Amino acid sequence: MIVAPCESVPQQKPQPCIMTLFGATGDLTRRKLIPALFSLHTQDLLPEPFIIVAYARKQKDNDIFRTEMLEAINEFADIGAVPMDKWRSFASNTYYHQAELGDADGYHSLRTLLAELNKRYGVCGNHLYYLATPPDYFSTIIKNLRDSGLTHAEPPNSGWNRIMIEKPFGRDLGSAHELNELLKTAFQENDIFRVDHYLGKETVQNILVMRFANHLFELLWNHLYIDHIQITVAETLGMEGRGAYFDKAGICRDIIQNHALQILTLIAMEPPISLNPNHIRDEKVKVLRSIRPFRKDELSENTVRAQYVSDGTNPGYSQEPGVHAGSQSETYASLRFYVDNWRWSGVPFYVRAGKRLPSRVTEVSIQLKAAPDVLFARMDCMNIHPNRIVFRIQPNEGVEIYVSAKEPEMGMSVKPVRMRFDYSEEFGRAIPDAYERLILNAMQGDTSLFARDDEVEEAWKLLQPVLEGWSESNTPPCNYRIGEWGPANSDALLAKDGRRWWNR
Ligand SMILES: NC(=O)c1ccc[n+]([C@@H]2O[C@H](COP(=O)([O-])OP(=O)(O)OC[C@H]3O[C@@H](n4cnc5c(N)ncnc54)[C@H](OP(=O)(O)O)[C@@H]3O)[C@@H](O)[C@H]2O)c1
Repeated sequence: MIVAPCESVPQQKPQPCIMTLFGATGDLTRRKLIPALFSLHTQDLLPEPFIIVAYARKQKDNDIFRTEMLEAINEFADIGAVPMDKWRSFASNTYYHQAELGDADGYHSLRTLLAELNKRYGVCGNHLYYLATPPDYFSTIIKNLRDSGLTHAEPPNSGWNRIMIEKPFGRDLGSAHELNELLKTAFQENDIFRVDHYLGKETVQNILVMRFANHLFELLWNHLYIDHIQITVAETLGMEGRGAYFDKAGICRDIIQNHALQILTLIAMEPPISLNPNHIRDEKVKVLRSIRPFRKDELSENTVRAQYVSDGTNPGYSQEPGVHAGSQSETYASLRFYVDNWRWSGVPFYVRAGKRLPSRVTEVSIQLKAAPDVLFARMDCMNIHPNRIVFRIQPNEGVEIYVSAKEPEMGMSVKPVRMRFDYSEEFGRAIPDAYERLILNAMQGDTSLFARDDEVEEAWKLLQPVLEGWSESNTPPCNYRIGEWGPANSDALLAKDGRRWWNR
């Protein structure tokens, strides 16, 4: 389920387990995974016992690794001063395992270590493997885990064996399919957790609650009342040292194939028959299957790709370290989707994602059709705008509704006003990090916030002609200056439909 019906009552602790963290010295582990795990520990939400095995290739011992973890927690965990009693119990259950990812011996010694830890702590063979390594290693790790007996239900694995895999899941349809097929040789689908951290965000889950726990929205949620939908994933940052990785992907693979399409499916899906993970995912897959396929010969009418150029102070994309000369990888993309089903017939979904844009914002803007042009809208002095519902995914998480209201004065003057629900104001506490929820759900065996095999492949299938068409094209990506809201072509994509982007 997206929101467990029993979540308002204390969470049940997951069963004892050992989590093996591949890529334990990497950026993601340091900034997100260790802080999330420690935060769960301070809230007493982790299983008891819970053991971490940190797998990476740098030479270090348990003490050095534990000290580095504490530094990461101090820097990145949003918990204030670190409670030292909690830290000691967390650190003493963490073990560093030094080995190469491609070396079978590393997995054999891992097996020995896991057997020993299972015995010492009485974990009963429950294992969670987290793949936080460069994606080129995903297949190697899965094969080695399988071949060294670490995914079979036999000692030390007589309990469950689950795997969490970071994005990107493949770089196209073929590679995603291959990875899915390989995973099937080692794990059951219900034990595979393909991470898209957007799905762990409170506000993304709230889309379903807003839609299906309120009559107010659902009655309007169709082509009769909705004019169009915009999904924006905008970042102010550029490459931040990740140019070499990004240059192989581009923003369409990095953001649109996963985060943006996940949001689109939650906005467009039909009510599931229950909150069972597979029922929700069935509906999401139906949306992906209903999206009108892109045709390579029509890409210029439905898509825009661009790269940022210098603003005179900061380097443009082509000058970023790690970006290869003459790179065509897009740092901005906008696409017009149509969901060709009864509900959404004729309603465009405009999706854009970009780096080095004027503000950091992820939001969905649902614009309703204009009210009938009979009363106020007929008067020139009236400022009547169509209603808009905005889901703010980040930052300032919440929901906004724009309506027309009468100005307080003697005459009749109508102005657009905003009604706002702000998460932190309303609930008075920080929103938990997405990784806390995702890791906990995987330990509980709840797959609802993770993409299923068919879901990932449908998303790739949809974007395959776009990626191929762009790479075959003789026209390079167009440009936008750092700090602009993308290129003029992207404004034109909406302008030709008589619409415009809502920029923050
Ligand atoms: N960083 C993020 O913000 C972020 C966000 C979303 C998703 N992700 C995904 O998370 C994954 C990890 O990203 P990252 O940024 O954390 O990468 P990273 O900083 O480059 O870390 C890579 C990790 O893999 C280990 N490793 C690499 N080659 C190895 C080998 N041959 N043998 C043993 N260990 C090896 C490294 O160990 P050594 O240090 O010992 O070499 C390091 O611990 C990627 O799939 C990425 O797409 C990252």
